Amino acid sequence: METVFDLAGLHRVISKWKSEGASIAFVPTMGNLHAGHYSLLERARELADKTVVSIFVNPIQFGKGEDYESYPSTLEADSNGLADNDLDLLFAPDLNQLYPGGVATDTRVEVPGLSDILCGRFRPGHFSGVATVVAKLLINVQPDIALFGEKDYQQLLVIRRVVTDLCMPVEVIGMPIVREADGLAMSSRNAYLNLKERNKAPLIYATLQRAAQRLRESPHQIPAIEAEGMKALESSGFKPEYFSVRRSENLAEPNALDKKLSILTAAWLGSARLIDNVKVLVDSQSESQ
Ligand code: PAJ
Repeated sequence: METVFDLAGLHRVISKWKSEGASIAFVPTMGNLHAGHYSLLERARELADKTVVSIFVNPIQFGKGEDYESYPSTLEADSNGLADNDLDLLFAPDLNQLYPGGVATDTRVEVPGLSDILCGRFRPGHFSGVATVVAKLLINVQPDIALFGEKDYQQLLVIRRVVTDLCMPVEVIGMPIVREADGLAMSSRNAYLNLKERNKAPLIYATLQRAAQRLRESPHQIPAIEAEGMKALESSGFKPEYFSVRRSENLAEPNALDKKLSILTAAWLGSARLIDNVKVLVDSQSESQ
């Protein structure tokens, strides 16, 4: 595995690979890697000749008072893990590489509409920060394929929009959520949970699964199912921000004919903000009202 810390080094390796006709798969991350991240790398290795992972904690996707300063940084362990997993190139730039003019007046990529709902309502500017840094990374890594986890489902759709709307020649691949044995979606932020909270955290997934079952049985009961989900999380000690049933394709509010739905939630447990989602295939014809 090679590691580069600046754009010049990145361009040198990428140019060489391109001249050899190698295909490139790319996995952007913020580090503190876990099995969820490694599942993306494993798939990347299957799909392309060369693999690139970036580790960069992107300041502009964190809001005021969020965990930018305390976000876990484990570069050495991550680097060892990536080498063990046969990564070809680790790109670990510092702030000046990606924000040469500073962050305050940086050019931004905006995805209107999709960025303002669900997580975007509670984290204003977050998806603009994600869209901007992912665009910078894609422009410089020039991958054929980029892989993202469905754990951050809204982020995945925002990135699909960036790639489509900016006419970027890259295929975006969404990958399934990797979970702990008890169902909790793996996340770097799970480290913020104390033992008691950690034991409670799988209730998020259990609540989503219960809602999915309800939705399959009663697809026209969406408002009630959303309200029940919020209440179930609140009464277990979570502070949910939203619990919403949406059309999987674009996160719009579903209509009666939609079959491919997602249930998405974000909830605070102690100092950890947890997100999760499940997909539900409903047979809208089977409903007896
Ligand atoms: P990060 O949270 O490090 O996640 C990097 C990638 O790993 C994302 O595509 C995310 O969806 C995926 N991932 C995280 N946990 C996962 C899990 N349990 N199962 C499957 N995939 C999982 O997401 C970001 O970083 C940043 O916003 C980034 C896209 C790098 C832009 O800064």
